[in-house]
Amino acid sequence: MAIELLSEQVIDQIKAGEVVDSPSGLLKELIENSLDAKATHLYIEIENLGLKKISITDNGHGMDEQDLQKAFLRHSTSKIQNYQDLNQLSSFGFRGEALASISAVSRLKCISKQKDRAAHLVEIHGSELVHPITLSQQFPSEHGTTMIITDLFYKTPARYEFLQNDRSELNNLKKILTSYCLIYPQLHIEVLWDKEKRDLFGPCQDTQQRIEKLTQKKSFIMQKADYEQMNACLIINPQAHQQKKIQQIIIDQRPIDNKKIHYLLQQVLAPLWQQGTSDYCLKIHMPPHLYDINVHPKKTEIKFQEATHVYALISGLAKLLLQNHSDIVKSQQNFAPDLKDSPSQHLHSLSLYSDNINQHGLFAKKGNFLIYTYQEKIFLLNLTRYFQSLLQKTQEVIPLLISDPIELKSNFANYQKRLMEFGFEIDAINAQHGLLRSIPKTLAQFDYLLILKELINRDCKVEKIDFNTLIAKLSISDLIHSTELSDESMINLSMEINIDHLQKLEREN
Ligand SMILES: Nc1ncnc2c1ncn2[C@@H]1O[C@H](COP(=O)(O)OP(=O)(O)OP(=O)(O)O)[C@@H](O)[C@H]1O
Ligand SMILES: [Mg+2]
Repeated sequence: MAIELLSEQVIDQIKAGEVVDSPSGLLKELIENSLDAKATHLYIEIENLGLKKISITDNGHGMDEQDLQKAFLRHSTSKIQNYQDLNQLSSFGFRGEALASISAVSRLKCISKQKDRAAHLVEIHGSELVHPITLSQQFPSEHGTTMIITDLFYKTPARYEFLQNDRSELNNLKKILTSYCLIYPQLHIEVLWDKEKRDLFGPCQDTQQRIEKLTQKKSFIMQKADYEQMNACLIINPQAHQQKKIQQIIIDQRPIDNKKIHYLLQQVLAPLWQQGTSDYCLKIHMPPHLYDINVHPKKTEIKFQEATHVYALISGLAKLLLQNHSDIVKSQQNFAPDLKDSPSQHLHSLSLYSDNINQHGLFAKKGNFLIYTYQEKIFLLNLTRYFQSLLQKTQEVIPLLISDPIELKSNFANYQKRLMEFGFEIDAINAQHGLLRSIPKTLAQFDYLLILKELINRDCKVEKIDFNTLIAKLSISDLIHSTELSDESMINLSMEINIDHLQKLEREN
């Protein structure tokens, strides 16, 4: 076939798959546009899981005739003008491609009105203008926009194949609604499902009231904390439960998918939730130059400039919450069953994590060894040697948000400098006690207090440290979420294994 340039229409249809791959993706883009237009009230209609129709009427500032001309063109946005604007972004949208993509794969009708101006209407089917901009007589309020999208993917039927089952698609739509209810507790959203069932999310005072209404459970607990230029608020349901949960991470008003943060919370909150999880909403504000949201067209993934600082903030925040609600933690523990780390749990974690760490593949822990796959080979990592090597690296440190109190030995002055070289900075408060001010970055994900204690007891001699207790306490998730696992040096520390090795290991354990 000769080389030909693709038509704009085909480019839009291809790009649409990246921006809007499902009805919930469409709903997200429409809600975000309304919120960017400063709407406080959204009326939404959804039919046949959004495939037949999704419409949204907002009370935002609306568009005039000129804006309507441009809104559906590719790369047309009123939100940024140059690349630097991304560093001060205050809107959800900025790529200027959502409406172009949506109108390429559906039938779209838009009516918009600015205050004291006439309303205008435009209609586009599969990128083709079927109704040029005209004056429109009816608009329900003083200003705002109505977007009516019907027959989603009628131009690209192959997309239907990639949709999930009806239940999952419905859950995804509900999840989008929940996210924006939590981002803006004051937002009023009304949804009409298939012309009959109505959901009303009335405005709430704050996020805690909103999550309590959404889950229909009372007694959530809340903790706030600041760290460097970030501030965070964590609201959780202290009772672990099995039913569907609301678990929302919001960074600078954006709903974010981040399994690492989720598992970090789950780990730190384990004294409360035991082996389970529960509802939570974590909100973090940070200056836009500290993260990049431009990593994926759907804008639900985030790349932090200093990921370890963000993780330090989150684990500090969750610890603070436990500390300030120790009465609830204690009462919960009295009722909790004594669940030991059982092999079936490891298997469970294995299946849980195997799909999210694609660059490393599968993990399993056996005694002092981690077995994992990397680039289609199986490796065996000696965990004792792994931790020894972590301590011997040149250490970057993480300052602690909450200083842990430490017991000191009488000759503290002799080993204080050596501990500092490992990344443990301690201020002595008296002869027996000190406050831990920083920890080595490489150990942040692990029980660093246990290692510090060992270092103190063994006069800072790494080769004498007994890592067995630490290793026995580790779960696969602790190991997988170690930032060091993405380090090539881990491969150097490991040996490639075959089935004989595995069987030998099996016998030894
Ligand atoms: N509900 C709305 N009310 C007012 N203006 C709107 C609305 N929806 C879209 N617009 C205007 O149309 C423009 C194009 O919207 P579109 O969603 O395609 O791009 P964007 O929001 O700028 O960026 P992104 O592609 O990242 O969403 C917006 O920049 C905005 O000016
Ligand atoms: Mg947009």
